[in-house]
Amino acid sequence: MTADTNSAEAPYPAPRHIAIIMDGNGRWASAHGKSRYAGHQAGVGAARAIAMAAVESGIKVLTLFAFSSENWNRPADEVNGLMHLFFEVLQQELDELQSHGIQLRFIGAREHLPEILRKRIAAAEAKTAGEVRMVLVLAVAYGGRWDLVQATQRIAAKVRAGDLQPDDIDEAVVSRHMALAGLPAPDLLIRTGGEQRVSNFLLWDLAYTEILFSPAFWPDFRAAEFAAAVDCFRARERRYGRTRDRLEALAD
Ligand code: FPP
Repeated sequence: MTADTNSAEAPYPAPRHIAIIMDGNGRWASAHGKSRYAGHQAGVGAARAIAMAAVESGIKVLTLFAFSSENWNRPADEVNGLMHLFFEVLQQELDELQSHGIQLRFIGAREHLPEILRKRIAAAEAKTAGEVRMVLVLAVAYGGRWDLVQATQRIAAKVRAGDLQPDDIDEAVVSRHMALAGLPAPDLLIRTGGEQRVSNFLLWDLAYTEILFSPAFWPDFRAAEFAAAVDCFRARERRYGRTRDRLEALAD
């Protein structure tokens, strides 16, 4: 099953930007009698499979929530394991991602990450900057509230410097200062692992995003589940707060 972006059966267009909360690595590990680290390793396999499925189906932006602002509160062993895993993944997967035309972009409070990882992130972004088939955004040390705070601080600094008037601050100005600036807002948010909440992800950007909750643990979420999610999205009518009559009038 593939997420064919030109399927004749689907009534609505395919998503351009899909964001995913990859939840359930720990429960997957418990269910298989493995360590949490092994669960995160299995999660990397799923991330690789979904990145490939997304680029092959014509998705333009894929954003994965890899480590939240709140994840710093996990046991030190697990945090260190995840930092190590991110470092290894960047080493091992970069050429493959680039060979598929994938540009890597990181969002989050990177100043909190170990320096060695920050350097590898910067190198990965520089190496893939020219790729245009799909942007893979990895949210690491990211929180939606952090994002709003950093945008507010940068806007306030421009006001203080006299480069921006308070009355000129509108939605477009705020968007330009958010971490996803320059990319379309997510059309579809998928959360795996059965929980039904947004967990401080992309709070500004999700205003009109369709949300789909999957019971699958992240390591079990593969190309077939991804294609089914895209199909489900394509069956939904997006009204952006308008009535159906008004939408039809706009389409005429
Ligand atoms: C949630 O599982 C997952 C995370 C904390 C993020 C880590 C994700 C990966 C390592 C996979 C993808 C990696 C990259 C580099 C894209 P959980 O531990 O919250 O699961 P639980 O709720 O079952 O305990």
